[in-house]
Amino acid sequence: MEVPRHITIIMDGNGRWAKKQGKMRLFGHNAGTESVRACCEYAVEHGIRYLSLFAFSEENWDRPQDEVQGLMELMLKSVLGERETFRKNNIRFRVIGDRSRLSEKLLANIDMVQDETASHTGLTLIIMLSYSGKWDIVQAARRYASDCLAAGKQLPLDETGFSGYLATAGIPDPDLMIRTSGEQRISNYMLWQCAYTEFYYTPVLWPDFRKTDLEQAIQSYNLRERRYGKVE
Ligand code: IPE
Ligand code: IPE
Ligand code: MG
Repeated sequence: MEVPRHITIIMDGNGRWAKKQGKMRLFGHNAGTESVRACCEYAVEHGIRYLSLFAFSEENWDRPQDEVQGLMELMLKSVLGERETFRKNNIRFRVIGDRSRLSEKLLANIDMVQDETASHTGLTLIIMLSYSGKWDIVQAARRYASDCLAAGKQLPLDETGFSGYLATAGIPDPDLMIRTSGEQRISNYMLWQCAYTEFYYTPVLWPDFRKTDLEQAIQSYNLRERRYGKVE
């Protein structure tokens, strides 16, 4: 089967999954790590080049503090716990988002694992953490403006150039965006990068999402005709 070069997933529905079983929301987030593992395995097995996962949005900082803290602890635990998987599977690990809101400890560990996997040539696994699409566009505009100030003039800028200022610089735009849990919205995710991305929505809650669900999404993607505004 042909696979998209870059698949991105809005991993949604952990809270509802937990609630269905009368458990705390964090129980759902914890269970979601098994789905992450399954998707990574599938991606490695099928030669997907980029898998990006929306793990925590800028807006998610406004959730109850114990949930936020639990999610950050889970992130730290997962990053450290998967080092061996990254090594064995030649996975390059990246975290993208607003670093200014992350703890020193989490940042130090993220950086360590990013450095450790930087030369890996297999799957690039990207965790979108403390990320939002509008934040990304604004930080890009700021950095462009400061480059102009440093140069003492307005520097030329086109779409490709602007992409280079985004936090996702160097990563091709997603071909396929999957969102679980039945919600059909983008929730301030990769607004610029999803200009021509194919969207796939599934009612499956994230902790239930497995390789067969990912495969179904890819099959749906393969039936699409991407026209980019042109006439066939
Ligand atoms: C997605 O699951 C995980 C994060 C946003 C961190 P939710 O926590 O949004 O689960 P629901 O949407 O409340 O079910
Ligand atoms: C989007 O899910 C963010 C992540 C999956 C990390 P949310 O659950 O936060 O989105 P809304 O609030 O339903 O739009
Ligand atoms: Mg949600």
